[in-house]
Amino acid sequence: MASMILKIGGSLLGETGFLKELAHSLNNLCEWDIAILHGGGPMISRLFRVFGKENTFINGLRATNDETIDLVEMALSGQVNKFLARKLTAFEVPAVGISGTDAGLFLAAPISSNAPAVNRVGEITTVQLDVIFSLWVNMLLPVVSPVAVDSAGNALNVNADSAAYSLAARLKADTLIFLSDVPGIRLNETVVPVLTPEILKNGIASGEIHSGMIPKLEKGFQTLDSGVKTILISTWQGSGTLENLLTQKEVTFTQLKKGIHDAALD
Ligand SMILES: Nc1ncnc2c1ncn2[C@@H]1O[C@H](COP(=O)(O)OP(=O)(O)OP(=O)(O)O)[C@@H](O)[C@H]1O
Ligand SMILES: [Mg+2]
Repeated sequence: MASMILKIGGSLLGETGFLKELAHSLNNLCEWDIAILHGGGPMISRLFRVFGKENTFINGLRATNDETIDLVEMALSGQVNKFLARKLTAFEVPAVGISGTDAGLFLAAPISSNAPAVNRVGEITTVQLDVIFSLWVNMLLPVVSPVAVDSAGNALNVNADSAAYSLAARLKADTLIFLSDVPGIRLNETVVPVLTPEILKNGIASGEIHSGMIPKLEKGFQTLDSGVKTILISTWQGSGTLENLLTQKEVTFTQLKKGIHDAALD
């Protein structure tokens, strides 16, 4: 069966109608194995404010340490994960909320364990797919929080986009779709249909590609190398968006491609 990883950004979750329309699309695509990986930037920021913690980002990654990792886990694996799974279930998608810490799905290591301000920012080193397969075999849809675990059982905050890439690469998923709050990558005020490594490099250098868009693209081309066939960056554009993204019709998106030559073949 073809497989798809759908990464949903935190800022989409409050959109009226989105989850109901998404659920409808998911039920239409029953011939696909689908897993959802979610972020939760706005929800983590809110919790940080409630607890008087500063929201700090370094190259688009949220600074997380021993003091704040519990808040990240509460927001991502608690609030957002449970909200998504229960709403989708209410709309008749058999969703099961799990996190990267369950059954060793995402084993991770700190990016810099010696820097106290960011010692709980992790990157995934190993993906163990058993929990995903066991849900798919039973026709259940995994809804995954990106919080990961180190070898001693400590939680690490992994950027949700980065986690989506790791999961898609390990599965050699056919399709990886990022649904964010923007319809694609904007350069010169228009959404570019194709992003190549060259365009990405220039966009970062000019400052037109910045903040959360940097981790969203960083591992894109190596993920194409690891066997994921299609990677799209887009947003929700009304009912049928997911079906339209798969046929690449009637929706705006940016597709990651390794070269213009490759792009010209389509
Ligand atoms: N060139 C660009 N084109 C479009 N968006 C860009 C660009 N450069 C930076 N961005 C920013 O990237 C943001 C999307 O990334 P962001 O990390 O905020 O969202 P997300 O990954 O969907 O959500 P979450 O982090 O909750 O998972 C956009 O809202 C926009 O502000
Ligand atoms: Mg993001």
